[in-house]
Amino acid sequence: MKKVLVTGGAGFIGSNFIKYLADMRGSWTIVNLDALTYAGNLENLKDLEGSEHYIFAKGDITDRMLVESLFETHGFDYVINFAAESHVDRSIKEPELFIKTNVLGTQCLLDAAKTSWQTGRDADGYPVYRNGVKYLQVSTDEVYGALGNTGKFTETTPLAPNSPYSASKASADMLARAYHRTYRLPVNITRCSNNYGPYQFPEKLIPLMIVNTLDSKPLPVYGDGLQVRDWLHVKDHCSAILTVLEKGQPGEVYNIGGNNERANIEIVRLILKTLGKTEDLIRHVEDRLGHDRRYAIDNTKITTELGWEPAYTFEQGIKETIEWYCTHTDWLSHVRSGAYMAYCESHYGNKSRPGGI
Ligand SMILES: NC(=O)c1ccc[n+]([C@@H]2O[C@H](COP(=O)([O-])OP(=O)(O)OC[C@H]3O[C@@H](n4cnc5c(N)ncnc54)[C@H](O)[C@@H]3O)[C@@H](O)[C@H]2O)c1
Repeated sequence: MKKVLVTGGAGFIGSNFIKYLADMRGSWTIVNLDALTYAGNLENLKDLEGSEHYIFAKGDITDRMLVESLFETHGFDYVINFAAESHVDRSIKEPELFIKTNVLGTQCLLDAAKTSWQTGRDADGYPVYRNGVKYLQVSTDEVYGALGNTGKFTETTPLAPNSPYSASKASADMLARAYHRTYRLPVNITRCSNNYGPYQFPEKLIPLMIVNTLDSKPLPVYGDGLQVRDWLHVKDHCSAILTVLEKGQPGEVYNIGGNNERANIEIVRLILKTLGKTEDLIRHVEDRLGHDRRYAIDNTKITTELGWEPAYTFEQGIKETIEWYCTHTDWLSHVRSGAYMAYCESHYGNKSRPGGI
């Protein structure tokens, strides 16, 4: 029975992961540490409230005293760090916050794991750790920068982040790598392509386009819309993370992707068609500064070395996702009106940083 610290578990991927983990490893104890920024929504995890295997802790990953006390209380075996500022557009407006959470927060977690797990030193002076522990840093393919029309990112592609968001994620990856090399901390880094699926905050492409289509509102498309992303269903990302947690070699990086390249405009058209609306709603708007043109993941390492495969085809995944947003109108209206914050507040007190869409 493992004890797991999941950070950022009230966000899109973190909440999907906690539910996945509760299903797959029912005897494990999961502690969800989340600051409940605008992107954190505890309604995503309503089903787990009251479970003896799930604990929510409201707090910031940069809060050393809090993080250390959680380690002392719970004696974690695993840490999975999802907590991050995650929206590129916001990082262009407010880079400092991204450095604080994504870089300093990662360092704080790495330090706490190192201190809590160390049992001694070997003959060469390297720290030795308790058996069966691991720190997993959830990263992104955006750390590799942009591709031209061909080629894919492998784990050895040099990092060349282009936005403040991806630069902060790359910095966190470098810290995780350094803690493995210098202190031999058992670390894995996963770099995943764009996720889609239920519970995604409607500031990101797919839920934003679904929501605007449902409301017959204009669909803002950056530039010519020909930016290509490699899309993966969030549940496939969750299964990949659990695979790396349990089978990944310490110190290794694993790319995660589903070989599903689509241009943004193609996705927008598909959503319009599925929901029976015309392309008149599309509005091309000024492109994002420094917008990466194409990302694509080579997933050979995780598929051949760890035996992971995505379960969803894009066609099935996007159909289910559109249906999910159409049938979860309460969730959507709470997110859009800000009522989800009142829910979080009534359960866990004041939010740390209010925001909206
Ligand atoms: N969304 C994607 O397509 C994608 C793809 C690859 C990797 N990732 C990575 O996966 C992780 C999760 O992404 P997401 O899309 O679920 O993000 P999200 O924005 O939906 O969720 C982030 C969560 O972190 C919490 N958080 C933010 N700052 C915090 C802090 N200082 N302390 C504690 N909690 C804090 C928020 O409240 C929120 O619950 C991120 O690290 C992101 O870089 C995302």
